[in-house]
Amino acid sequence: MTESRTTEEPQYLRDIWYCAALSGDVKPGKMTRKMLLNEPVMLGRTPSGEAFALRDLCPHRGVPLSAGRFQGNDVECPYHGWRFNAQGRCTAIPSLVEGQEMDIARIGVRRYPMVEERGLLWIYMGADANAAPALPHPSLPYDGPGGPRFVERQVFPVSIDYTVVGLMDPAHGPFVHSSWFWRKAGSIHAKAKNYAPTEHGFAMLAHEPSKNAGLYKVLGGGITTEITFTLPSLRYEVIKAGKNHILGFTAVTPLTDSQTEVTQVFYWNNRLFSLFTPLMRPFAKIFMGQDRKIVTLQGESLKFNPRQMLIQDADVPAMWYYRLKKEWMESRAEGRAFINPVPTTTLRWRS
Ligand code: FES
Ligand SMILES: [Fe+2]
Repeated sequence: MTESRTTEEPQYLRDIWYCAALSGDVKPGKMTRKMLLNEPVMLGRTPSGEAFALRDLCPHRGVPLSAGRFQGNDVECPYHGWRFNAQGRCTAIPSLVEGQEMDIARIGVRRYPMVEERGLLWIYMGADANAAPALPHPSLPYDGPGGPRFVERQVFPVSIDYTVVGLMDPAHGPFVHSSWFWRKAGSIHAKAKNYAPTEHGFAMLAHEPSKNAGLYKVLGGGITTEITFTLPSLRYEVIKAGKNHILGFTAVTPLTDSQTEVTQVFYWNNRLFSLFTPLMRPFAKIFMGQDRKIVTLQGESLKFNPRQMLIQDADVPAMWYYRLKKEWMESRAEGRAFINPVPTTTLRWRS
């Protein structure tokens, strides 16, 4: 199976939830500007604690609302003081004098549906600003206590597609991640993994981790790992060992056409694992940095519009990613149910 693609501008999926930020990024009574899917978005949290998202452009003359301040639970634009509530409705225009009747509530700024759960802020990027979300926000496959125990986050200087394909690609491990603490370049060997479609993605079915994944050994025996990928660009790795339950969650969020944020968050139910977090931190930084470095190199070639070859089993997850995206866009455009194009199959490669 071989496919060839030319480099294209990324197409962003609409009518779907993206992981916008971590809860801690937005403090009560504060606002922050963030580009998401090439759109300026103001992420805010009212003094009473509600997180919300508005288009970061004042409808009066386009000044970023994120440069303003809170007045009560409303946002005040720094230019002429127009105020907006968390729903994006205008609540005050200070320049109006008596007799200048205006229905100011008809003035609004785009509001994005936002949900906060387990330390994550989810944003719904709908095609239509006024439509209700077509899907519930993603729920994490983790039922233990608490929020994120460990976070590593980096911005990759390439599009979402190169970032997702770079992270899901199984064949780069021995070349990009060879290091004394993980695995040696010479340890390459044949692998076979079983895959099945999920609702909007695919799963690599539960398996014992490979022997060369040394860090897994500290968890004890009887370990199973299940990795799922789901649209738009979310990866869940569930590790179970006896009563221990770990979720490694990776969100890939497009900021702009050439800036993509990768957020890796770990949750676990055994507090003892937290003893390892000071140790994990530098390794996670190095590990994600290796992925970042290789796609940065790749990004430097993109101006020459290289072709992308996707060959045989090692590149099949990448092919599925593009097919899932295409099917998402087509099913939305045609107003029909999503039909998952991923088959149940076994993929074989050496890595
Ligand atoms: S530009 Fe925002 S109030 Fe005028
Ligand atoms: Fe990698």
